Amino acid sequence: MIKIKKLSDIPSSEITPESVYHQRRAFMKTSSMLGTALLLSPWAGVSASVMIGDYQKNVITLDEELTPEEDATSYNNFYEFGTGKTDPARNAKDFTTDDWMITVGGACEKPGEYSLEDLIKPFAIEERIYRLRCVEAWSMVIPWLGVPLASIIKSLQPTSNAKYVAFTTLHDSQRMPGQKRSVLRWPYREGLRIDEAMNPLTLLAVGMYGKTMPNQNGAPVRLVTPWKYGFKSIKSIVSIDFVEEQPQTTWNMEGPREYGFYSNVNPTVDHPRWSQKKERRIGDIFKRPTLMFNGYEEEVAHLYDGMDLRTNY
Ligand code: MTE
Repeated sequence: MIKIKKLSDIPSSEITPESVYHQRRAFMKTSSMLGTALLLSPWAGVSASVMIGDYQKNVITLDEELTPEEDATSYNNFYEFGTGKTDPARNAKDFTTDDWMITVGGACEKPGEYSLEDLIKPFAIEERIYRLRCVEAWSMVIPWLGVPLASIIKSLQPTSNAKYVAFTTLHDSQRMPGQKRSVLRWPYREGLRIDEAMNPLTLLAVGMYGKTMPNQNGAPVRLVTPWKYGFKSIKSIVSIDFVEEQPQTTWNMEGPREYGFYSNVNPTVDHPRWSQKKERRIGDIFKRPTLMFNGYEEEVAHLYDGMDLRTNY
């Protein structure tokens, strides 16, 4: 059901939108007329909030209808902006993400403070259409824009002590008013085993539906792990740490019996308070069966060979 296109199969006309291509040609012409030796990059001088414009379309596609953009951007969870499903769209309107910095630390050769731009600009932005299955048994199909996390991790050169990757969301209750209430222990934290983080499906997303990431969906940068319940997809990331021990994760800290570290989508393991066998695709009336690993079994089942997925939920 999942189609993966090789980058070499994608015509270059799909890689750079025509308008951007022409703008760039015009710019190159002007700069050479001025005799300036500019190293041209689509990122040059662009701030984090306007990074989209140049991406490889449909690198991973799905034969399923996309969730309308309006639904994906108005019904979601982002507790830093309120616990109601419509709170994030309303309360994140004024969230500013300019000059976003990410601190990289722990077991790697390239720790430091990186601007989001610097961290991702060496890599092509890809469009990938993924299912997102929330632990509350609703799901969506979203066209993400992002960079494979594996590319970024490789560039940071983790050492052999890097067994896990820990991620942290911004902690600033002035900018994230939901943090004024202690509904969760802030900041929001998530983590992956290093092989999960390096899996080709794992994406560091900076946009969706062809646009910059909306504030309510995790601007300017979030994780997307499509075979795991949605809460693993941590939003507005400010730090990435390579660690030896399994890191603490927000929902596991809040309810260890209900939310495990792995949180792989698994219709055969129910949440203690509800079934995970079925889900409601946003916009549908009837429920549909939930697929093992959210339908990504072929790509990720090998990561859990020999593990009991009942105890490692
Ligand atoms: N990240 C942070 N920082 N705070 C949150 O409350 N909610 C999670 C996840 N990432 C959350 C978060 C949950 S429960 C889900 S289902 C997804 O974001 C929702 O992602 P979406 O906005 O793309 O639907």
